[in-house]
Amino acid sequence: MKRTAVIAAIFLLLCQALVASPDKALVVYFSATGNTEKAAGKIAAMAGADIARIMPEVPYTPDDLDYRNASSRASRESADADARPAMLPMEKDAEAYDTIFLGFPIWFGDMPKAVYAFLDEHDLSGKRIAPFCTSGSSGIAASERSIREMEPEAEILSGERISMRDTEEDIASWLSRLGTDRRTI
Ligand SMILES: Cc1cc2nc3c(=O)[nH]c(=O)nc-3n(C[C@H](O)[C@H](O)[C@H](O)COP(=O)(O)O)c2cc1C
Repeated sequence: MKRTAVIAAIFLLLCQALVASPDKALVVYFSATGNTEKAAGKIAAMAGADIARIMPEVPYTPDDLDYRNASSRASRESADADARPAMLPMEKDAEAYDTIFLGFPIWFGDMPKAVYAFLDEHDLSGKRIAPFCTSGSSGIAASERSIREMEPEAEILSGERISMRDTEEDIASWLSRLGTDRRTI
């Protein structure tokens, strides 16, 4: 009888430990004009994830973002494979999470160099990364390849371009597709 009680207690403790340490998810995003920030907020709310912003030390001005001007800051950074703007410290420790939703606007077909700087500064080996982007029209495939190259030991989940017209159902459908690949995030 006593032995059964001890086994039952151990079983209960194990169950509690499993419930107490669910998969931890963080939405990390860079946004210069607010679109990706909106998408990030929706994803964090729907996935029950924490959220943290990638912030360059020097914010981008409208002139910095002028993609028609080849000498604007964004144009110059995007054209330089080694450009990495200096970053402010993150509000959350990304390495303490199991799943990272990584969001950014598409700049010249790829991620802004601020996102490269984030990936340079963090070792996301063994984590799941779910990339998402906003853009005028470009897709996320090129950025997914860049993330895979920079984090070869992470599992890169199927990325999503979030349109400003997307509804919560559209986002829920992406989250559930991720959840069918793996356990629910
Ligand atoms: C410097 C720069 C380059 C851009 N390049 C592209 C591009 O190659 N393809 C595209 O579809 N949209 C491009 N866009 C549009 C942005 O991806 C789009 O407006 C995005 O939603 C902005 O996100 P944010 O408000 O979070 O900064 C570019 C915008 C900027 C400022």
